[in-house]
Amino acid sequence: MDSDHAARSPGTRGPAPSSRVADAFERAADTYDLTGVRFYGPLGRRLVAAAGLTPGMRVLDVGCGRGACTFPAAEAVGEDGSVTAVDAAEAMVEATRRTAAEQGASHVTVLTGDAGRPDFPDGSFDAVLAGLVVFLLPDPAAALRAHHRLLRPGGRFAMSSFGSVDARFFQVTDVLPQFLDEPLGPVPGRSDNAFATKESVAALVSGAGFTRIGVADSDLDIEFADPGQWWDWLWQTAGRMILERIPSERLPQARAAACRRMDEVRDADGRLSLHWNVWLTTAVRGPAATDAPDGGRT
Ligand SMILES: C[S@@+](CC[C@H](N)C(=O)[O-])C[C@H]1O[C@@H](n2cnc3c(N)ncnc32)[C@H](O)[C@@H]1O
Repeated sequence: MDSDHAARSPGTRGPAPSSRVADAFERAADTYDLTGVRFYGPLGRRLVAAAGLTPGMRVLDVGCGRGACTFPAAEAVGEDGSVTAVDAAEAMVEATRRTAAEQGASHVTVLTGDAGRPDFPDGSFDAVLAGLVVFLLPDPAAALRAHHRLLRPGGRFAMSSFGSVDARFFQVTDVLPQFLDEPLGPVPGRSDNAFATKESVAALVSGAGFTRIGVADSDLDIEFADPGQWWDWLWQTAGRMILERIPSERLPQARAAACRRMDEVRDADGRLSLHWNVWLTTAVRGPAATDAPDGGRT
C-alpha cells in the first residue's frame, strides 16, 4: 500500500486528486445541471443505453458528477446489480450520495476517487462508464488502460466526448479572456488532439487494449430561455475554469459582454440555442488470452 492509499478516509477510493478541473466542479456541484437546461441528463441516459447494460451487472461510473449516468445505469442493472460511482469533487460525491439515499438506491455506492486511477481490483466490473470526463484528465491514455484493467474479459466500456462544437459557443466564450488579468493558457479538453476526430478517439481506445470499438454520433440541441440562463449554465460546464479567473469586480462587465454576444448569435427565429455534436464511444475488453495489445504474451 502506498502512502496515498494509507491516507484514504472512509468512503473514498484513494485521495481526491486536486486538479483545476475537479476543483472547479467542486464549486459547481450545488447547482450542477440544475439551471433548467437539459444537457447532462439526456447525454447520460444515451451513454447508458449505448453501453447495453443488463440486469445484474456490476458497473463503475467514473467522474460521475451529479449522477447523469449513475442513476440510469442503476435502473438498467436493477437491484441484483450494482453501480459504483466515483468523482474527485467531494461536493459532487456528497450530493450524488444524497440523491441515491433519497431514491432508496441501495445498490448505488458513491465514493471520492480519481477517474484516471480508479482504485479497485482488476477485473472487478462488467462495465465502465465515463461520461464527458476522459478528455478532462491529465493522461487520458493511462486512464483508459486503467479502465480496461478493471473490466472482466468481455466487459463493456462506454465514454462520451465532444465532436465538433457549435461555433456560437466559442463566439460567446471568446469575449471572456479580455476580462482576465493573465493570458488564458491551455484549457483542459480543448486542445487535446487525441479527441479531435472519431478515428483518433478510436485509436486512443484501441491503444488501451479495447476491441470492438465504435464511435457513434449523438447530437443534442439545447435551448436557453434567455441570455441569463445561458450564463448560469456556463458556470456548470468546464467553461467555469475561465469564469472563475475573472476578477469579481469585472464579472458584471464580463456577463454583460457575453450576454450581448449571445443576443448577436440568436437563431433566425430569435431562439437561443446550441447544437452539440457528441460522440459515444463503446468498446469491449476482449477475451482474457487475446485482449492485451501483444496478444496476451506478457
Ligand atoms: C463534465 S462533468 C461530467 C459528469 C457526469 N459524468 C455527467 O455526465 O454529467 C465531469 C466530472 O468529472 C469530475 N472529474 C474531473 N476530474 C476528475 C478526476 N481526475 N477524477 C474523478 N473525477 C473527476 C468532475 O468533478 C465532474 O464531476
